[in-house]
Amino acid sequence: MKIEVILSPAELPALAKRDLRETVCAVFDILRATSTFVTMLHHGAREIIPVSEISEALQIKKTRPDILLAGERHGLKICASGIDFDLGNSPREFTPEKIRDKTIVSTTTNGTRALRACTGAKTVLASSFLNLKATAQFLQEHKTKNVLLICAGTGKNKADEDILAAGALMELLTARGDARPTASNSAEAARNFYLEAKSHLADAVSNSENAQRLLAISELRDDVSFCLQRDIFPLVAQMTADGIIRR
Ligand code: MLT
Repeated sequence: MKIEVILSPAELPALAKRDLRETVCAVFDILRATSTFVTMLHHGAREIIPVSEISEALQIKKTRPDILLAGERHGLKICASGIDFDLGNSPREFTPEKIRDKTIVSTTTNGTRALRACTGAKTVLASSFLNLKATAQFLQEHKTKNVLLICAGTGKNKADEDILAAGALMELLTARGDARPTASNSAEAARNFYLEAKSHLADAVSNSENAQRLLAISELRDDVSFCLQRDIFPLVAQMTADGIIRR
């Protein structure tokens, strides 16, 4: 297994020039897109359609009025073209009662764009602390040769929480007795970053740009601790070639 980590959103446009057909991408947007997508699936959502733009979400809603509109801009639920989205991007909003058997279209600032940037990959996984072990097991059981861990970031900046999660996955993938993966410099850097912070992970994450923003909004502050829970949702969230995420 060869593992590489994309540390910054600035590196995403270059993915379009790469042949990812033999690569599995695992996308991390810990605060909060991929954490929220894993939560949606655990709570019974049928499928999630991640889109980059609000206009794409509204277009799909026009053709499929039954779907739920979800997502954020600046961390808050979207209201666009006079339409209030059904839900924002807090994982705690997506209760079984609201979303069971529903299709949800979501657009967020970085996470959905990072997922879409992996189009063409063999498989794309929405990864988080909530389903980290299940993600590691998927990669090991499928004897994945090339793994690309994508840290979605915040705005144009790196997000410490995403790099820490990528490092934690690296730690799981190297801890087993199996053949040690070949790690790029960026992958080793992410792993070392995690090993240095793992004993005080909540503090390390709480100082990040997006955590600070969420902690300052009373109704969103509990999202930070929620998204740091380990392996509470043992599922694999997989985006297939049709661009839809399912369990
Ligand atoms: C993102 O996509 O950048 C994040 O999910 C933003 C958020 O949820 O606050």
